[in-house]
Amino acid sequence: MRRTLSTLGLAGVLLATVASAPTTPASARGEAARDRPRATDRPIVIAHRGASGYRPEHTLEAYRLAIRMGADFIEPDLVATRDGVLVARHENEISGTTDVADRPEFVDRRSTRSIDGVSVTGWFTEDFTLAELKTLRAKERLPQVRPTNTAFDGQFQVPTLQEVIELARAESRRLGRTIGIYPETKHPTYFRSIGLPLEEPLVAVLRRNGLTSRRDAVIIQSFETANLRRLSRLTDVRLVQLLDAAGRPYDFTVAGDPRSYADLARPAGLKWISTYADGIGTNKNLLVPRDAAGNLRAPSTVVRDAHRAGLIVHAWTFRAENQFLPADFRIGTDPNARGAIQAEYELFYGLGLDGVFSDHPDTAVAARLGLG
Ligand code: G3P
Ligand code: CA
Repeated sequence: MRRTLSTLGLAGVLLATVASAPTTPASARGEAARDRPRATDRPIVIAHRGASGYRPEHTLEAYRLAIRMGADFIEPDLVATRDGVLVARHENEISGTTDVADRPEFVDRRSTRSIDGVSVTGWFTEDFTLAELKTLRAKERLPQVRPTNTAFDGQFQVPTLQEVIELARAESRRLGRTIGIYPETKHPTYFRSIGLPLEEPLVAVLRRNGLTSRRDAVIIQSFETANLRRLSRLTDVRLVQLLDAAGRPYDFTVAGDPRSYADLARPAGLKWISTYADGIGTNKNLLVPRDAAGNLRAPSTVVRDAHRAGLIVHAWTFRAENQFLPADFRIGTDPNARGAIQAEYELFYGLGLDGVFSDHPDTAVAARLGLG
């Protein structure tokens, strides 16, 4: 196996401090993880697309605010430009998060593509050079849910991965604490198919910034498996396999592999993941399922099973508004009003997971204080 227990401790916040951790045989990994409620000292707080509950997502300003709020990691989702530069966007179709549709100079770039088997119409990062993309401005994805965030529409650029790394580095120096980055490769099979693979440029950018070791404050994530397995051969930085509550990795669909995310969340699947990755990043509904009315059911055994397989467990996505919360924690009937997000964190932290992706990192940090 590529991974060892030293990579698990790993998952701690002070990533640089595990440099001298002894390497433990893979056979002992599960035993050690079983003995602890979580694989790490405390759950880390990962700013999901930045502090996206307060600023347009995937902007330097959203990341900066998240760091001010106490986030340990900032999360750039990554797609490629026409000239092969990695930039932070959740989708390669950018009309939902930028002003591209209002730009007459780009009207002829509108097109329809098949992305992971789904027909999508709009404007795609792979049709824009970085210089062209930099003329666009970000806008709030959820203006109905987060109307105050629209005050920032039109102000911020689409950042490159390099700019995100530089921000994390500068803020780490300024604050005297390590801010990690948690990049996600978006649509890796698709991007490779059009001659713009994500993995080699990602590893190259990390290497140029001296980020090559499992002890560095970097975790790479993907919903696909083949590109993580490729990455496990290209770099020693930590890797996390994302697991959704339904469906299957797109590379499995392409390869004819019948396994689903649910299969990968079972002990045999987790054991397989541990051969190439350090952890799982799960839809939180895999950890605590909900019934048809949105009420919480009994927790699954996924956290325990993953720890037994030597994997850390991070869950997504924690959002403060009622419509994203289980029915148990909603307050009032306004779907856009804040619910009892602290109670949701208390529930999930109590399961022993190792980190949370949050749109509102201040709330995740505040709830963590209660762990004492
Ligand atoms: O990467 C964890 C979580 O962000 C996965 O969902 O769709 O927000 O990238 P998504
Ligand atoms: Ca993501």
